[in-house]
Amino acid sequence: MTTPAVDARPTSPLVARAEGCWIYDEDGRDYLDGSSGTLCVNIGHGVREVLDAMAEQAGRVCFAHRSQFVNQPALDLTAEIHAVTGHAFREIVYTNSGSEATEAALRLVLHHHAVLGAADRVVVLSQYPSYHGMTAGALGISGHPQRRTNLDALHHTPVSVGTVRPDDPGKAFPELSDWVAAVDRVGADRVAAIVVEPVGCAASGGTVLPEATLRGLRELCDRTGVLLVTDEVMTGFGRTGSWLAHTESGVVADLVTTGKGLSAGYSPLGACLVGHSVLPGRSASDAAVGHTMNGNPLSAAASLAVLRYIVRHNLVERARTTGALLRERLAELAARYPFTGPPRGRGMVWGIRLRQSADGFAAEPLARRLCLVARTCGLIVYPAGVDHHSQSLLVAPPLTLAESELDELVRRLGAALEHITAGEAR
Ligand SMILES: Cc1ncc(COP(=O)(O)O)c(C=O)c1O
Repeated sequence: MTTPAVDARPTSPLVARAEGCWIYDEDGRDYLDGSSGTLCVNIGHGVREVLDAMAEQAGRVCFAHRSQFVNQPALDLTAEIHAVTGHAFREIVYTNSGSEATEAALRLVLHHHAVLGAADRVVVLSQYPSYHGMTAGALGISGHPQRRTNLDALHHTPVSVGTVRPDDPGKAFPELSDWVAAVDRVGADRVAAIVVEPVGCAASGGTVLPEATLRGLRELCDRTGVLLVTDEVMTGFGRTGSWLAHTESGVVADLVTTGKGLSAGYSPLGACLVGHSVLPGRSASDAAVGHTMNGNPLSAAASLAVLRYIVRHNLVERARTTGALLRERLAELAARYPFTGPPRGRGMVWGIRLRQSADGFAAEPLARRLCLVARTCGLIVYPAGVDHHSQSLLVAPPLTLAESELDELVRRLGAALEHITAGEAR
């Protein structure tokens, strides 16, 4: 019997180690982490305090199931999350990822309405474009056609029928009038929740949901009994220059999904922040149930150390000041090329729009090619967008980025853009 040949060559460099804003491969090449991985490593790599906290916790206990024990790191983490979010939420439901946080939010939304005698409220309205995760429920409500390819059988449910598109495909996000029309079309008594990303990242490349739209959505939800969910998996815990991006509008969501920056990539962790209005008088953690590893002591200890590091080093404030400088420098760079638009975003997440024809995008998205070229120039950046309208390059380095590193980031990105201009722009 012949064994089929397998191409085992790695398509990416083999990572060896990482420190601060830098990643090194096995051949000793350095890469500036210009996107914090996937907007995850907000405090930078290899932070000693976090590694020490993890080692200490690992020496005590790595796993104890939440149905059998409470654990101190999770208790302390819950207190820390309440403190940094101004006690705006009642309960924290832990998960292992952002996708699972979305699933937890969806379960809580459906339980909430069923308990209130409105079990017919099952439609979730979400933004187009958007991304809420790869699990069935989360992808089902995502406005991200590429990631759903071949998977519709998993995702067509009553919950998933309500992606709200802008009335004009050239617009980045739906406007308040589009949301009101969608609620009217479905019928307010059938809508369970509205889910939005306050700053859209992977799907819309730094598109900021206007504060007036967010406030309008809050009013719409209050008027109709619909729950407002904000997805802060990419934006939460400092990335945009505030602990939660959506609260900058003065609005507080009923449920907030988080992940990534919560543990900054040190150990898998997500969380759904549950507001006072949701399932009144009941335990959200009991209702959401969850997975074996949720809230495990090791991830909780890592995350607690991460949040304390952010507080101690004023990284939320720093995201605003360094972010303003980064925006300015990226705007100067983008203005030099016909295929790059002005950066969109907030704090330390900026999306540079990439202009490419629909045909060119279908053949090979420029964002993906640019990211590969950037990596050969020693810079990691992240491709975003679901079509040629939203296609962008996400620049979102750790919040700890030093000014000299910012200069180096812009220099390496400039080199990548020159390569594209020299031979590759289509
Ligand atoms: C806005 C948003 N929500 C949810 C997710 C899913 O998170 P995870 O990959 O941790 O499951 C992501 C991941 O990129 C995201 O960007």
